[in-house]
Amino acid sequence: MAESTGSGEVLPTQETYHPNIESYRQVYTESVETPEKFWEKHAQVLDWHRKWDKVLDESNPPFYRWFVGGKLNVSFNALDRHVQGNRRNKAAYIWVAENGDEKIVTYDGLYQRVNSFAKSLMDLGIKKGDRIIIYLPMILEAPVAMLAAARIGAVFSFVFAGFGAGALAERINDSKAKLVITADGAFRGGKIVKLKDIVDEALVQSSTVETVVVVERTKHDVQMQEGRDIWWHDIVGSRITYVEPEWMDATDPLYILYTSGTTGKPKGAVHGNGGYSVWIANTLKWAFNPGENDRWWCAADIGWVTGHSYIVFAPLFLGLTSIMFEGAITYPAPDRMWEIIERYRVNLLYTSPTAIRTLMRYGEKYPEKHDLSSLRVLGTVGEPINPAAWKWYYEHIGKSNSPIIDTYWQTETGGFMIAPPLALGLPPLKPGSGTFPMPGVVPVILDEKGKEIPAGEKGYIAYKRPWPGMFMTLNNDPERFKSTYFTKYPGMYYCGDYAIKDKDGYYWLLGRADEVLNVSGHRLGTIEVEDALISSPEVAESAVFGRPDPVKGEVIVAFVVVKEEHEGNGEVVNSIRKRIRTELGPIYVPEEIHIVKSLPKTRSGKIMRRVVKAVALNQLPGDISTLENSASVDEVKSAIEAFRKETS
Ligand code: WT7
Repeated sequence: MAESTGSGEVLPTQETYHPNIESYRQVYTESVETPEKFWEKHAQVLDWHRKWDKVLDESNPPFYRWFVGGKLNVSFNALDRHVQGNRRNKAAYIWVAENGDEKIVTYDGLYQRVNSFAKSLMDLGIKKGDRIIIYLPMILEAPVAMLAAARIGAVFSFVFAGFGAGALAERINDSKAKLVITADGAFRGGKIVKLKDIVDEALVQSSTVETVVVVERTKHDVQMQEGRDIWWHDIVGSRITYVEPEWMDATDPLYILYTSGTTGKPKGAVHGNGGYSVWIANTLKWAFNPGENDRWWCAADIGWVTGHSYIVFAPLFLGLTSIMFEGAITYPAPDRMWEIIERYRVNLLYTSPTAIRTLMRYGEKYPEKHDLSSLRVLGTVGEPINPAAWKWYYEHIGKSNSPIIDTYWQTETGGFMIAPPLALGLPPLKPGSGTFPMPGVVPVILDEKGKEIPAGEKGYIAYKRPWPGMFMTLNNDPERFKSTYFTKYPGMYYCGDYAIKDKDGYYWLLGRADEVLNVSGHRLGTIEVEDALISSPEVAESAVFGRPDPVKGEVIVAFVVVKEEHEGNGEVVNSIRKRIRTELGPIYVPEEIHIVKSLPKTRSGKIMRRVVKAVALNQLPGDISTLENSASVDEVKSAIEAFRKETS
C-alpha cells in the first residue's frame, strides 16, 4: 500500500541544494510570532487597489477574515499589471492539446481574451455576486472564464469535466448558478466525452440556469436550446474591449469548489479574493522558488483545487509561463509526459504520486528516451507518496539532481500547508515526508481527546492558527463549516488526516482518518457512492469502502444487496456501473462490485461498513458486540473469497 512509514532515511545527496534551514526557521518564527507584521509584508506580492485596515480579524471565530477593508482584483493581478509592466509579450500558457496541437498565449493575449469574455458575461446580465458554473475540459477557455468571472466579481464554481450529470446538477443547485459555461465535448484518451449532453441532463434537475455558453471543441453535433444556449464564439468580440476590473473586498468570495465529505452531500468550500491570493502566490514561491524564465508545469486538471491555485491563479500572479496540458499522461504512449518536458524544456514539474506510480510501471526506458535535463524541481501532491515512488521520481526523472517537493494541502486550505520550503532554505529531504510547515502554518498532532501526542506516534493533524488561504465558509452552510472542521478540537482547524511528526520535526502525512476515499489523489465520499448505488432501481442496500491499491492509492469496493426481483439478474453489475458513471462520473465507478444476500448491521439496522471492510480486507473487524446478523459476515467472506479465486 502507498503509505509512508514515518521512519524514512535521510538522503545523502542534500549538499547539492545548499541547505540553509536556519533561514527558513527565521522566516517561520517571524510568521508565528508577529503574524500581522509578517503578512503585511507578504501581501505585497499583489497589487492592491486599496490597502486593508486590518490584517486579520479574529472577532468571529472560526470565520477569520484577512486583509479586511482591502480591495483588489484577481484578474488585474494575474494580467493587467504584467501587461502594463514588462511581461506583455511573455507566454502565459503553452497549451498542449491531446492531439499534439499547441497554442501559445501571451499575457497580452490572455488579457484581451479575458476582457472580451468579461464583456460577454456582462452583456448576458451577469453581475458582481452572481454565481456561474464552469464545466470545461483543459482548454484555454477554462482560465479565460475563471479570470473573466473574477474580473467582474461573479463567483464561479468549476466542476471537473469528469463528473456526471447528477453531481453537476447538485453543484448547480447548491450554488444557484444563473449561467453554465461548457463545451460541446472533451477529448479524453482518443474518445469524445459529450459534455453538452451531460449539461442538458443536469439542467432537467435544476431551475436557476438561464444561459448556457458552449465552447466549440470536439465539433460533434449538439442540440442547442433556443433562448438558452449560445456559442462562445458568437458572443466574444474580435475587437479589443476593456472592462474595468470590479474592485473586490479581500473578503468577497472568489469561487466555490465542491469537495467530498463524510455525508452524501458535497461541501462547497468558499475561497475569498484577498487572503487566498496572498497565500497561493507566496506558497508557490516558497515551495518551488520559480525563476522569471522558468517553465512551470502543474499537470493536474483545472477542475480540482490544484489546478485552480497552481495552474491558474498563482503562476499568473507571479507572471510565470505555464504548460497547460489537455490530454492523458499515457496517451498515445507512456512517454507523453517525458516528451512534453523535453519539447518545452520544462523546469518545474508538479504531478501526483498516482501519475508517478503509473509511469514507473512502464519502466525507465520511457524517460530514458528523452532529454529531461531542463528539470530542476519536482513536485507531488494529492496523496501520500510511498518511498519507492519518491525514489524513482528522484533518480529516474530528476537524475538525483532535483529536490522532490511533496506538498500536502487540501481544497479547504487553498494552498500548500506542509512542503519543503525550497526558496527559504531546503531541509534534508526524507522520501515520503512533506518536511515542515509553510510560514504561518502551526500544525499539531493530537489524540482523540485533543492531547498532543509524542514524536513518532500517529495522530490527527490539526492547525492552531488561521492562515490567509483558509476557506471562509461552506456555501449555504456555515453550521456545517463549524461542525465539520472546528468542533472536534475547539479553536483549531481539524482536517481529517492522520499524521506523524518524527523526532526531527518532520511531518509524515498518512491519509484520511475518516470515511473519505482518496482515489488517484482525488477525494471521493463513500456515502456519495452508497447514495448513488441505492438510488439504482436494482439495489436495496450497499456498503462502500476503499481498498489499498499499489498504483491509485485506493480503489472503490462496493458490496450490494439487490432487490428480490433482481436476484439472479446477470446484468445487475453492469447496470449499476453505468448508473454510477452517469450519475457521479467515471472516477466513482467501483473497481469491485460484490453481490451479497445481506450486510452486517447493528441491532438498530445501521449497516456496519467498517465490519464489511475489515472482513473483505482480511483485517480484524474490531468491536462487533452490536452486530445483529453474524451470518452476513460469512456472506461477505465467501463473496470476497470467490472473487479472489476468480481473479487470481
Ligand atoms: C486530501 C485533500 C491538495 C490538492 C489535491 C487534493 C490528501 C493531499 C497530500 C500529500 C499526503 C495528501 C490528504 C488531504 N493529500 N496531498 N502530499 N501527502 N496526503 O485536494 O481533494 O481536497 O484532498 O488529500 O488526505 O486531506 P483534496
